Amino acid sequence: MKRVKTCHILEMLRSQKRPHLSFHTPGHKRAGADITELVYSDNLLSPHGVIKRAEEDIARIVGANAAYLLTDGSTAGVHAIILALKEAGISRLAYPKAAHKSVKDACYLFGVEGIEIDAPSSPYPQQPSIEAISAALEQADALLLTSPDYYGNFPPLKEAAALCQEAGKPFVLDGAHGAHLHGTQFYAGSFAEMWVDGAHKSLPALTQGAACFAKDEVWASRLKAALSRCRTTSPSYPIMASVEYAYKYPKNEKLERAAVALKREIGAEQNADWTKVLVPFGEKSANAEAYLQKKGVYPEFDDGNFLMFYLSPCTKKGELKRLKKLLRRLPRGPLIAWEQAKGERGKEGNLTRLVPLSKAEGLTCARECGLFPPCVPLIGKGERITKEKLSRLASAANTFGLEGGCILVFWEDA
Ligand SMILES: Cc1ncc(COP(=O)(O)O)c(C=O)c1O
Repeated sequence: MKRVKTCHILEMLRSQKRPHLSFHTPGHKRAGADITELVYSDNLLSPHGVIKRAEEDIARIVGANAAYLLTDGSTAGVHAIILALKEAGISRLAYPKAAHKSVKDACYLFGVEGIEIDAPSSPYPQQPSIEAISAALEQADALLLTSPDYYGNFPPLKEAAALCQEAGKPFVLDGAHGAHLHGTQFYAGSFAEMWVDGAHKSLPALTQGAACFAKDEVWASRLKAALSRCRTTSPSYPIMASVEYAYKYPKNEKLERAAVALKREIGAEQNADWTKVLVPFGEKSANAEAYLQKKGVYPEFDDGNFLMFYLSPCTKKGELKRLKKLLRRLPRGPLIAWEQAKGERGKEGNLTRLVPLSKAEGLTCARECGLFPPCVPLIGKGERITKEKLSRLASAANTFGLEGGCILVFWEDA
């Protein structure tokens, strides 16, 4: 497989003049690819050279009016999109309950009211139905959906876009897991006013490499202004170069077909995104993960039911074969139900307290928390805390929303 298009930023980095005596940041003074804004290297905040050319090419490749490189992950793009909405007069945003924390953080930071869209959360967070989206949108001024989600599923994109258009409300997408979809019918750009792509997740870009986009000039100028408030002023050139490279990387259709076949052969979940292989191990998931790690095989996450294996156009067919062989050897267990029991909302007080996980069963959660990744809430604010979810949190390698092994609960219950 070879790269077919010129990568402007990479070419600039490769053709640096020698000698290069570095009296500029960064402090390692080694120059090389990790440089700062110099006379020949352009400037991300006001691009006019190689960065501008890279952004224009990427916009053309994905079919956007404007593309903006991000070196601070999709998080910066989500924040900027929500700030751009706020600047356009939006004060209430509907988003799925299982939206990534960056969505909720941005609403908190910019004073946007979040209207949560409910959806089943077991055996893993599902996409909301169009009925639930429609009901939430009635109370909101704009809609944000995740497309695709970490589990490789899509929301009802066409129907949601039509609803928003009819209501004259902006539609934006968190495509942190969908950068590889450009050029397909599922790509966020076919539906949304603004969207973000996590190039580092499903395309060959360095970690934190991402891009965000606007469909027309009006949203482009709002997004650009918002981005200047949400991003670093010291962008990494290796990351920027890698994002441009990633969008110019050829599709790997042979691998896509091999991934679809693998999913069928190993009894993976039937999702719609070839890059996410979701294998149901149920209560045996921790054992399966430990066995694979001993063999030097590392999945993206273990959510207590599923191991998720993240592919990209750079995954090799031989690697899929090895994975298949190993997975076939591993026993599977029954799935654990994570659903919040009906009517199991606890009493929300004004005061809160941190309680060890071992003492929290039956109390009411005061701050959403979960596994990291996938960084979607396992226990929501106001939810009654169950034994199963506590044991999942206690055995997870990484979590969010907890503090020193304690969970925040409403005080009146404690
Ligand atoms: C759905 C979703 N949105 C946004 C993000 C944030 O992306 P990043 O880690 O690139 O900032 C993530 C990260 O996992 C995610 O899963």
